[in-house]
Amino acid sequence: MRRKYASLNLGYRKVPYQQQKRHVMISTQTALLRNDQDGLRHAAELLGSGGLVAFPTETVYGLGADARNDGAVAGIYAAKGRPSFNPLIVHLPDLAAVQQYCIVTDAAQMLARAFWPGALTLVLPLRKDAGISKLVTAGLDTLAVRVPDHPVASALLAAFGGPIAAPSANPSGRISPTTAAHVHDGLAGKIDGIVDGGDCKVGLESTIVDCTQKPALLRAGGVPLEAIEAALGRQILQPSDPATPKSPGQLLSHYAPQGRVRLNALKANGHEKWLGFGSVDADLNLSASGDLTEAAANLFKMLHQLDQMGATHIAVSPIPETGLGKAINDRLKRAAAPRN
Ligand code: TXA
Ligand code: MG
Repeated sequence: MRRKYASLNLGYRKVPYQQQKRHVMISTQTALLRNDQDGLRHAAELLGSGGLVAFPTETVYGLGADARNDGAVAGIYAAKGRPSFNPLIVHLPDLAAVQQYCIVTDAAQMLARAFWPGALTLVLPLRKDAGISKLVTAGLDTLAVRVPDHPVASALLAAFGGPIAAPSANPSGRISPTTAAHVHDGLAGKIDGIVDGGDCKVGLESTIVDCTQKPALLRAGGVPLEAIEAALGRQILQPSDPATPKSPGQLLSHYAPQGRVRLNALKANGHEKWLGFGSVDADLNLSASGDLTEAAANLFKMLHQLDQMGATHIAVSPIPETGLGKAINDRLKRAAAPRN
């Protein structure tokens, strides 16, 4: 269904039918949703059916998807045009919800009590069987979580009732959006909805602290380092410290399966398991129909399955270097890189 509103601009307060309608279609498929009960219910329904919905947080607008749904999470990468799979932050309503998915370490408890809801993301050990898509964690066994401090984000989390994975709602390589209009400029036509919540008051991404071991700063952001150290009563590791865990993008062979990986394989040799793409007779197939979004959704799951199958050598079909194929190939190249 295509509805056109020629006069619509996102100086939305001037748009008269904004007051009359539950939501307004701003392109073929992107709905501008009001942050009232109807708009949020609609946003929650979109998320529940695997859709992508941008929503405001106090830091920046996030591009949300159901964190349990591989296909929906793959959609985030497709919409942003991200050339690589970086793990995503999962947004939850409170510490109790975080405990369902992660092991909350002592330091994390202190930081959560001091700063949540707020502009602090904690990296924590992921619970087994938490049900989070492996595409959210990029195959890692840790999860980045945050309880946002924004009434619209909280209301959306309550209406949806599940974990929302959300990177900043901008095309890859562009600056993070702090208004619904920024999101619209970058992603209209590529996502299902935008919940309008006005300007973001922090305007800068969350601070990320890894609490899986000794607390370590991974990214500076909305909560100052001094405040974090004051809450913990001690200094924490800095990104430059050799003991600080490397951020996922810096780890060339994260996540690598145990078997040796051979790329661009047109067939598997006798000792290899074949991870196929397209209409090939492989042991596992990323997408028999050659759909890159499906392949992205299956990638980390299948790399883990190959480990479970005890694969010592893995042959991988060529993946086209277009759209999501770039991110898939980036990850496969890391998996195939020499190990140290
Ligand atoms: O303020 C924010 O944090 C915003 C709003 C929407 O919440 N989100 C955001 O997400 O900035 P994004 O995807 O742009 O940044 C996520 C960062 C990446 O640098 C990623 O590497 C890191 O979080 N990250 C995610 N999971 C991680 C993990 N398990 N271990 C280490 N770093 C992780
Ligand atoms: Mg970002």
